[in-house]
Amino acid sequence: MKVGVMTGGGDCPGLNAAIRAVVRKGLKDYGMEFVGIKDGWKGLLEADAEPLTRDRLSGILVRGGTILGSTPFSAFKGDVEIGKLAEGYRRLRLDALIIIGGDETLGAAARLHEMGLNIIGIPKTIDNDLLGTDTTIGFSTALTVAVEAIDRLHTTAESHHRVMIVEVMGRHAGWIAVEAGIAGGADLILIPERPFDIEEVCKIIRERHETRNFSIIVVAEGAYQRGGKETVNDDEKDAFGYATIGGVANWLKKEIRARLGFDTRATVLGHVQRGGTPTPEDRILATRFGVHAIELVAEDKFGLMVALKGDKIVSIPLKDAIKDRVVDDEWYSIAKTFFD
Ligand code: F6P
Repeated sequence: MKVGVMTGGGDCPGLNAAIRAVVRKGLKDYGMEFVGIKDGWKGLLEADAEPLTRDRLSGILVRGGTILGSTPFSAFKGDVEIGKLAEGYRRLRLDALIIIGGDETLGAAARLHEMGLNIIGIPKTIDNDLLGTDTTIGFSTALTVAVEAIDRLHTTAESHHRVMIVEVMGRHAGWIAVEAGIAGGADLILIPERPFDIEEVCKIIRERHETRNFSIIVVAEGAYQRGGKETVNDDEKDAFGYATIGGVANWLKKEIRARLGFDTRATVLGHVQRGGTPTPEDRILATRFGVHAIELVAEDKFGLMVALKGDKIVSIPLKDAIKDRVVDDEWYSIAKTFFD
């Protein structure tokens, strides 16, 4: 049996651990043959793949990124027929394809399955915003990076009596912001799910500074003002040619300085959150997902995504996974307890 492995969308720490688990389990227990699709969707379109042998996996468990390379589905700007991707699968003579990706990649994976291909999905995204799984590969590492940054900003904020704003990733969901903010003792957390009012933001900071002389604000890149829209980087375009989301921390910095006169600094963590060595949690989750994914292939079960539910690895229909999981009131109210 010939099985393809592909990573699609933005990279994250833990992808290599998943690739390794899929292939090691498949070689050892099922005698399968593996190929890695090069550079994600582009490689599938061009039927470009490399053999994945035991030697190729050596040392990759602890490495961030993806040894296979990755392109987002959106790189095609909507003008590639899904049928052309199915053709790539057939040209490679695959019996099954394991696709590791976020909502966009797994959405396309679900469409490939509907066309009759044998597809299994593995969820990854630092944003942790996929419905159907408690968590995704990459989130633990991004959270760890964000918390470490907040801890470091805390000490310098105290020394200089400053307002420190840290912008974390999260275009549509504020999971990194909320969880890193709770773990890092943030005094205010702003997320896309709760559009903010700059007057209220300033009121919270002003009142806090009646008894304290520094503040930490954690803001998700996709957070925006009530009635407004996301801040964008005018000098940076995405695959569709639209400006990328980002810059809200710098905007807030200027507003707080102008309205309150406090010494304020902004730090944008950006892709630091997506790079480097995966945490033990991400390595373990990716390994469990990878092993379960290849077991499903061996059982001839397809159109599924592996998922974490409590402490169990389960599988759910791919089409049920690709909706946004957003921060709910319960989570945000815990965070809000400490906004003062
Ligand atoms: O989807 C994950 C994510 O990390 C987002 O939070 C972020 O906006 C985006 O990727 C940035 O990706 P890129 O710069 O690779 O387009």
